[in-house]
Amino acid sequence: MASAGACMRCLSRLPSGTGAAALRSQRAWLPATGRALGATTTYARGKRLFGHTSRLGERVVKPPKTVPAEELTGKAGASAASNVSHKAFSDVAFAFDIDGVLYQGNRGIPGAREMLRAIHALGMRYVFLTNGGGAHEDAKVRSLARRLGMSDDEDALRGRVIVSHTPMRGWADSVKEQTVLITGSHPETARQIAIEYGFKRAVTPADLIHANDKLYPFDNLKESLHSQFRPLPDGKSASSIEDAYSADVPADALRIDKILVWNDPRDWSLDIQVIHDLLVSHRGYLGTVSSKNGDATLPNYGWQQDGQPELWISNLDLFWKTDYPVNRFGTGAFVEALRGVWSAVTEGAAELQFHALGKPSEYTYEYAHERLLHDYGDAGSVNGAQLQPWPSPPPQQQDGSSSSNEGNVDGTRHPLRRVYMIGDNPESDIRGANGFAPADGTEWKSILVKTGVWRAGTEPSHRPDVVVDDVVDGIVWALRNEGVDVTRETLTGGGGA
Ligand code: G3P
Ligand code: MG
Repeated sequence: MASAGACMRCLSRLPSGTGAAALRSQRAWLPATGRALGATTTYARGKRLFGHTSRLGERVVKPPKTVPAEELTGKAGASAASNVSHKAFSDVAFAFDIDGVLYQGNRGIPGAREMLRAIHALGMRYVFLTNGGGAHEDAKVRSLARRLGMSDDEDALRGRVIVSHTPMRGWADSVKEQTVLITGSHPETARQIAIEYGFKRAVTPADLIHANDKLYPFDNLKESLHSQFRPLPDGKSASSIEDAYSADVPADALRIDKILVWNDPRDWSLDIQVIHDLLVSHRGYLGTVSSKNGDATLPNYGWQQDGQPELWISNLDLFWKTDYPVNRFGTGAFVEALRGVWSAVTEGAAELQFHALGKPSEYTYEYAHERLLHDYGDAGSVNGAQLQPWPSPPPQQQDGSSSSNEGNVDGTRHPLRRVYMIGDNPESDIRGANGFAPADGTEWKSILVKTGVWRAGTEPSHRPDVVVDDVVDGIVWALRNEGVDVTRETLTGGGGA
């Protein structure tokens, strides 16, 4: 198991790794005019594509291959794709962010539907890589379909969603046997998803307050958000400990092994209270307090040094984009609140140690990459293969166990040359793609859209390879970068003009 804080180290390592440095040196995107990135429109819609003269554009755009519009729009379905051939269709893939890229709240981005159908008809590989969570991947497909005006059983959507907690599917069975506290926007839904992932002992905050009504001295959400609860696993108790400092822990005392923050919680107060209680506990026994807390002779002043549960956060997005004009708080805002409380509790002496999943974590990008490598057979039902809804996890999993390729199309990796990540959040989408250098040498490029959390005209905290108006323009740019002559109109059939 990675040590506590390993993922934070992994995050800080992203921009400076050898592979990442090599990638960065290739990221020569600078407006020829020298104006600040974002103040320059990279290209205009319509016929005059690629009006910009960025070094990247000059360097990599190849002589275009003409693809008839009726084929690219996918109107002719599978047969259309079989009439078109281009190397890029098989060795280039896309990773789409969802919020702020494919939709804003309930509003789908114009042209996204037609564009997805078109690249699907071409047999291209792609995934939807979102930091959203708290919902089953299939539910996310349904909400995506609804907002884009598509059918949720369309192959262009089905089986391609990776939410922030999807990589937990690949965690070792021994981890799934542990007792985990799981929380998020809808803790009971999260528990049900966790059970479907294979977790055997998932406990929610609602279980705790119903098991011990002294644990939380307020009851305003007990009959609403926390109305669904279950008995604690294995007959354990949340009320058998009377002396928090006693070394004698009753045999039936509830012990939590991991805390999983699935997505942005709704009841921050209860969740911060319970997470705090576990992080200060002796070995994760709820209702105890570790004698090591504040011990200056220990690392981190003794905080989180006594076998307390690991804290896993599914994503760190401070903001995300909806159809409200001001960006909304995400799970990262909850983490900041927790950090603030932790700093007060530890008098500023201790760092909050936790693991982070979701973009920009390398682990999540590795997961998405594996998915794309294994998806060759389903890349377009034109090939006649069945869609497989869940990928195998990356080879190296939690606890160092290896995984099989069971569940994939044919269990073999089909190499990729380049993957384009299209995102709206420089801190997660762009940072993650820029820093990701998979061992197989595939190049990941980053495309930043103007439809999400990033405000056009400002300097993004992490520079993308290109800035475009929206996701359709992003795919047009990527395909042209690969030498495919395509316009917004040909890609969408005029549906997203
Ligand atoms: O809660 C959703 C949010 O944090 C971001 O989702 O799709 O933009 O990665 P997405
Ligand atoms: Mg987004």
